Amino acid sequence: MPIANYAARRARLAAQLGEGGVALIPTAPVHMRNRDSDFPYRHDSYFYYLTGFTEPHAWLVLTSDGRSTLFCQPKDLEREIWDGIRLGPEAAPATLGVDEAHSVAELDQRLPKLLENRRTVWYPFATHTGLETQVDGWLQKVRVRARFGALVPEAQRDVCALLDEMRLVKDTHELDLMRRAAQISAAAHVRAMQRCARMLRAGEDVREYHLDAELLHEFRQHGSEFPAYGSIVAAGANACVLHYRADAAPVRAGDLVLIDAGCELHGYAADITRTFPANGRFTGPQRDLYQLVLASQQAAIAATRPGARFTAPHEATVRVLAQGMLDLGLLDKTQVGNVDDVIASRAYFRFYMHRTGHWLGMDVHDCGSYVEPGELGQVSERRDPLSGETIQDRPARILRPGMVLTIEPGIYLRAADDVPAAFHNIGIRIEDDAVVTADPRFDGCELITRGVPVEADAIEALMAA
Ligand code: GLY
Ligand code: MN
Ligand code: MN
Repeated sequence: MPIANYAARRARLAAQLGEGGVALIPTAPVHMRNRDSDFPYRHDSYFYYLTGFTEPHAWLVLTSDGRSTLFCQPKDLEREIWDGIRLGPEAAPATLGVDEAHSVAELDQRLPKLLENRRTVWYPFATHTGLETQVDGWLQKVRVRARFGALVPEAQRDVCALLDEMRLVKDTHELDLMRRAAQISAAAHVRAMQRCARMLRAGEDVREYHLDAELLHEFRQHGSEFPAYGSIVAAGANACVLHYRADAAPVRAGDLVLIDAGCELHGYAADITRTFPANGRFTGPQRDLYQLVLASQQAAIAATRPGARFTAPHEATVRVLAQGMLDLGLLDKTQVGNVDDVIASRAYFRFYMHRTGHWLGMDVHDCGSYVEPGELGQVSERRDPLSGETIQDRPARILRPGMVLTIEPGIYLRAADDVPAAFHNIGIRIEDDAVVTADPRFDGCELITRGVPVEADAIEALMAA
């Protein structure tokens, strides 16, 4: 992305810091995995959003007049021989467009000066362990200088509150990247489905990790740096474990396989789930359940458009699923009543226990308030019928063009005496990524993950190919 875009974001943030504001934004720490091996490094999303810089040990300091200072690793030939090339503070202004840059080794010496005579310090709250203590230490040094006339900042505020709002609405460059991440991820799902059917046809022993390998191959083949989150490849009953990971369980003909996987491309995530028959043919009961989840997703998609509330797709999904649970005999009408009763009592929750979506962006569960900012004060209370707790509701966020969310209904049926045996141990989820749009070519939202089919017949055709 052109460096001017990052400069424009910094300017937008600076304009919101208020007279005498200064923002400190560190990137993510390096984490060790075991002994002296580290986890693959992933920058902090807020820091990257403002700099486009991916090296560890870096900080951005931004003042309300728009001046930006970067702290980064100094050039060091010996370290660069082992760990790779560093940008270094000398090259940083030209490469990143920041006004000045210094070695991160000078952070403690320079920060008190940058905080002096400022009124408000903004930094990310509750995201970087030890950051509050660091800020405290710098402010103590400013206070020592108060007797020489220095002003000490009197307020500390959470910079995420500003950045979350900015990140919630994606710009065209971000949307292009997200479309590419989605395309790669969709192709990876296709590849995994086809390998599964091919191996089973050949009589081979298929394991969840074989399908995970296909996902990774396709991600890396197209330049994705990492999976955006731990891929779920769940055969049979494992699909009922919501946070299952690709493991070593056998994938058997007759089972469904649930894959929830998406790649991260240049810092942006995709998040796709498909559920398919391992051997490429749905059984009757599997197809009945699949059609129900698909119908509930279609209802949610129809409810996703500018001006609708974030909760509208979830409510649409729940109504379709609740009716389907009654029709298929998963819920007993004589005990739970009609669809409105099922919704009011949340009797569906036993089989559908998660929300229908979340914001998507640099983080798979992306930042951004789910409450409409202008309506924070409109609190209503209700009693949750399952837990008995009192819940405070606020009006949900109103969807606007450029917001990106997932639409991911599911149904999870563990074996139980009161569940028809044909449905035992079936978990189904269908997840697509939607860009809210007013573009007349779309009906309220653009689905960017449909490079992998979703209709039962299309999945069967794909797997027979
Ligand atoms: N893969 C995480 C989610 O679907 O939210
Ligand atoms: Mn997912
Ligand atoms: Mn998701």
